[in-house]
Amino acid sequence: MRIAVVGGTGTAGSRVAALADEQGHDVVVMARSAGVNLVTGEGLVEALDGADVAIDASSPTPPDASMSRFDAVVRSGRNLVEACVEAEVRRLVLLSIANIEKPDFDAFSYYVAKRDQEEAVRDSGLEVSVVRSAQWFEFAEHSSAVDYAEDRVTVQDWYVQPIAVASVAEVLVREATRRRARDATIAGPEAVRLPELVRRLLLARHDPRPVVAVDAPLPGFANGALLAPAGAEILGPGVAGWIAGRTGAGAPRAAPLRAAPSNLPGTGDGGTSGPLPEPPGTPARAKGPRMPVPTSLEEFVIRWDAFRAGIGFEEITDTLAIEPHACDGASLAMRMPLAARLRQAGGMFAATALFGAADVTGTFLAMQVVEPGHFPLAAQSSLNFIDNSRVGPAIATARIVRAGRTIVVASVDVADAGGKVLATSTFTYVPMPSAGRDREGEGRAQEAAPGTQA
Ligand SMILES: NC(=O)c1ccc[n+]([C@@H]2O[C@H](COP(=O)([O-])OP(=O)(O)OC[C@H]3O[C@@H](n4cnc5c(N)ncnc54)[C@H](OP(=O)(O)O)[C@@H]3O)[C@@H](O)[C@H]2O)c1
Repeated sequence: MRIAVVGGTGTAGSRVAALADEQGHDVVVMARSAGVNLVTGEGLVEALDGADVAIDASSPTPPDASMSRFDAVVRSGRNLVEACVEAEVRRLVLLSIANIEKPDFDAFSYYVAKRDQEEAVRDSGLEVSVVRSAQWFEFAEHSSAVDYAEDRVTVQDWYVQPIAVASVAEVLVREATRRRARDATIAGPEAVRLPELVRRLLLARHDPRPVVAVDAPLPGFANGALLAPAGAEILGPGVAGWIAGRTGAGAPRAAPLRAAPSNLPGTGDGGTSGPLPEPPGTPARAKGPRMPVPTSLEEFVIRWDAFRAGIGFEEITDTLAIEPHACDGASLAMRMPLAARLRQAGGMFAATALFGAADVTGTFLAMQVVEPGHFPLAAQSSLNFIDNSRVGPAIATARIVRAGRTIVVASVDVADAGGKVLATSTFTYVPMPSAGRDREGEGRAQEAAPGTQA
């Protein structure tokens, strides 16, 4: 089935695209970074050409300050419906939000815009499925309701019944591919106040910052109006399971995965540890990496050197002084010193340096799983600065969340040498055929690392 994923590079959309791809569907990613603009309509009909189903997991951004978020969402919803009709797409699946119809939210313009979007979809004459989701657990990590400052975390007092975005993606693909279209309302198994969820997350990460709860902008966010409505489908994990998944092996760690022998460049921690256990909630691994993630530091270093030279990353990686740190066949860790040029005025890591470490580590890992002759072009990233530190080096640990033919998603967390989490991030890559120069580099990489698969 040909599935167009609108907003296919976003938090939900990237998981939808990867899952549909894994299930063998022909996936088209629609986003501005893929040349499609929902607000202006640019490229919409063309991208939908031949699609059986469109899944709208977008969150449209206004082009400039002259347009409100409300107008951007409304206009995008209508443009998408018109384009689906014109391109003769059979079914449209819309990701919406549970409970938005309640009068509690009449004064919240984003929810009013989502109501309009639902209405436009229902009036389209297409086969329609509206999937209304409760707030996501990921809301605790980066959302407008949570503010991570250096000395405290300020959290609006929302009362929610959160669901993991991975479960949301599964439902969207399920509804897109089932025989008859129908609506669905989904939520997680436990109600929790957002400040409490953040407090438990910080505790699990050994993060000492206090959580300061503040009023939510409307009483409806706090009074239970957002909890799962009657008849909602309840999907795990619960609070403890989700936190374990975010703070287990996938989370930043100071200890090396498999430490570097001291005779290799850029290493010297000594000691070894075996492969990491899979924590509860760890996302499904790739169907089979095209080029397995290295299991030894020696192989990691050889591939890293070839990658830098082949892709022309030497200047950036020299500036960051980033180098292989550890690997275990599933994840990779790179280390970046707290060099003077990488510090901000307070002597801590500059934000750009932390982003750079996450980006380079994620890109290198993604390179291991894309088809030979392809380069993982970053289409979207989201990075949440959790904390900062004067304790170097920083360790960036990357894991593949999904590895499909058309999209690769990696999560990269950065910690200081003491294991304190500094930043968490997600990168979405689109594998693109490499330029000649890159192929040359890849060829060298494979030559230099006998035993790796072509
Ligand atoms: N967060 C929650 O708890 C929650 C709960 C229920 C439902 N939802 C709904 O889930 C949906 C997705 O949210 P999300 O957090 O996954 O969004 P997100 O991470 O911000 O991703 C937004 C996606 O939309 C694309 N996009 C933005 N502006 C665009 C434009 N003008 N034209 C084309 N594409 C555009 C982005 O790609 P480019 O930047 O490349 O264009 C990206 O792929 C939203 O509709 C939200 O209401 C969220």
